[in-house]
Amino acid sequence: MPALIDIRDATVYRGHTRVFHRLSLRIERECHTAILGPNGAGKSTLLKLLCREIYQVQDAGSSVSILGEETWNVWELRAHLGILSSDLQQGYIGNAVGMNVILSGLYSSIDVWDYQEFTKADRSRAENIMRRLGVHHLRTRCFAEMSTGEQRRFLLGRALINNPRTLVLDEPTSGLDLKACFQYLDLLRRLMRRGTSVVLVTHHIHEIPPEVTRVVLLKKGRVVADGKKEDVMTGETLSALFGTRIHLVRSNGYYQALPGRKQV
Ligand SMILES: Nc1ncnc2c1ncn2[C@@H]1O[C@H](COP(=O)(O)OP(=O)(O)OP(=O)(O)O)[C@@H](O)[C@H]1O
Ligand SMILES: [Mg+2]
Repeated sequence: MPALIDIRDATVYRGHTRVFHRLSLRIERECHTAILGPNGAGKSTLLKLLCREIYQVQDAGSSVSILGEETWNVWELRAHLGILSSDLQQGYIGNAVGMNVILSGLYSSIDVWDYQEFTKADRSRAENIMRRLGVHHLRTRCFAEMSTGEQRRFLLGRALINNPRTLVLDEPTSGLDLKACFQYLDLLRRLMRRGTSVVLVTHHIHEIPPEVTRVVLLKKGRVVADGKKEDVMTGETLSALFGTRIHLVRSNGYYQALPGRKQV
């Protein structure tokens, strides 16, 4: 099976900032992967590379291949990957109504437009997804008039309408209250158990579902650790990653970071 993404020696700029210098990283679809790192580490940039929102510098010997292909029609690619990010939430059209937010996933667009066609089956799938996510009562509400958590759920629904084999999540629980966060984690875990592979980038350690088996630590655009979750997720490695003393607690397969004891 081709890797979800296979990055070889890629250099990537955002504006004048060089985020990655000759980065190599391969993420398989067979396991669920979390990419952890502090602010500015390059996590969202990595996902933008995966979704073809940005490209690497065309150096000899460098390549970025996604699902085995280096060239993609971006709309087709984005339909393969269910994408959920705060950038999408911020950029989404405010007067799109709930139902249309879900349907827009079929065209990877940020509202629905007259030229787009939706079948009866598409609409009924969207209805089902809204029911599963507990937002069916908001189907006619404008996106701008929803709470952050409600918007997140609609965007998750938008990602799910294509039945993607891979979900690509950028800090998915930020802005969710505890109940919404737990409901979201439950749903995500069900999808993972049914075979949807997940790539999660975050600095929120508590949002890593127990099913994640591989963890990649990213700092200043470089992979500083990569391996089995149990090996990588230690107080020591995370303290070094975030540059602060962290006491790591594990419970029910989840992790939580607490402030470490102060050195005096
Ligand atoms: N549009 C841009 N123009 C210039 N530099 C940018 C741009 N977007 C991001 N950067 C820089 O690229 C680097 C990586 O940013 P990125 O958004 O990938 O970080 P991140 O790991 O997702 O951080 P966060 O945890 O804050 O979301 C940062 O130094 C950031 O300042
Ligand atoms: Mg980010």
